Amino acid sequence: MKIKFSEKIISSKCLKDINDIIKSGWLTHGKYTTLFEEKFRKFTNSKYSLTVSSCTAGLHLSCLAAGFSKGDEVIVPAMTHTATSHAIEYTGAKAIFCDVDSKTGNLTIENLKKKISKKTKGIIIVHMNGKPCDLDGIKNFCNKKKIKIIEDCAHALGTRYKKKHVGNFGLSGSFSFYPTKQITTGEGGMIITNNKTFFNNIKKLKAFGIDKEIGERKKPGEYDVKLLGYNYRMTDFQSCLGLSQLKYYKKFLSKRQKIAKRYHQNFKGNQQIQQLDFSKENSYFIYPILIKNRDKLVKFLKRVNIGFSIHYPKIIPQMSYYKNKYKLKKKSYKNAIDYAKKNISLPVYPTLNNKQVDYISKKILNFISNEK
Ligand SMILES: Cc1ncc(COP(=O)(O)O)c(C=O)c1O
Repeated sequence: MKIKFSEKIISSKCLKDINDIIKSGWLTHGKYTTLFEEKFRKFTNSKYSLTVSSCTAGLHLSCLAAGFSKGDEVIVPAMTHTATSHAIEYTGAKAIFCDVDSKTGNLTIENLKKKISKKTKGIIIVHMNGKPCDLDGIKNFCNKKKIKIIEDCAHALGTRYKKKHVGNFGLSGSFSFYPTKQITTGEGGMIITNNKTFFNNIKKLKAFGIDKEIGERKKPGEYDVKLLGYNYRMTDFQSCLGLSQLKYYKKFLSKRQKIAKRYHQNFKGNQQIQQLDFSKENSYFIYPILIKNRDKLVKFLKRVNIGFSIHYPKIIPQMSYYKNKYKLKKKSYKNAIDYAKKNISLPVYPTLNNKQVDYISKKILNFISNEK
């Protein structure tokens, strides 16, 4: 049996719509972008939403609109994708890496407190693998210290904390639609926010800093530019692709959770596999397990044709760019390093059936018993 790590379901209706958009010549600024933003806003129950060319772009715009700049420090987990810390560094602010919880890979208050200084202006939190961070604790602490919160929700479409969708707890939440994510637009992302001023800022920053939208211009090209903005737009055929998947996402989210529950049941009681408690708040971007001899398991899964991934095998402060720039000590990131050594991501896409989930589980359990 060969099992992929990730699979997308694109309807024939969506493919036809994309074909029509491309043929129409109206490839960007179209109705699908507006519709996708509208449906996403409803799905996440936020006041404003904005498509962007990637989650990285969303995080960058969020850091700019939050006012981070040279001389500021912004805290970020050591266990994340490099996009999270890059977004801070693009603004001239300094990324301050913080250790994480060894079981979840999420940032914790205890570790956060160790990194606060007079220069701390903000924090970017990451809901690793779809598990929400301790948002009450983080929010309470950051509000007291006047620290701005930005949420990296790249893994977290469908993740809730106390019934509220993540991305609504700070200034903004940025989502990713990279092909392995819960829904995809090829490359692409979405920012959500509940702050009108912030929204107006990111909207201008996303499109060159131009002060008038196409519909507001008396003649083509009649606008002013008051800001050094970017071109971080999403095309209309990408929006069409995202919109069609979002329509089915509620159903797919519950399928992802059923698969996660099945893995949880299958691995329960095994002392060699560390897994989190099952939770309906988790959107299960992937199913993470922690295992001591992870690299041997990687070789084994390749041999038996089972798709997997690792989120992530190396902590960001150890990447050459940051290592050379900040010369950070490994001992400050003990938990993140341990997590990087042990984590492995199992597939949870909605077309995976019970037989496949049981097959993956059985192969892993057999591998473990042979390793003893
Ligand atoms: C946690 C995290 N943040 C940000 C990103 C960047 O997303 P994008 O590829 O949409 O820019 C990723 C990408 O995988 C990610 O995993």
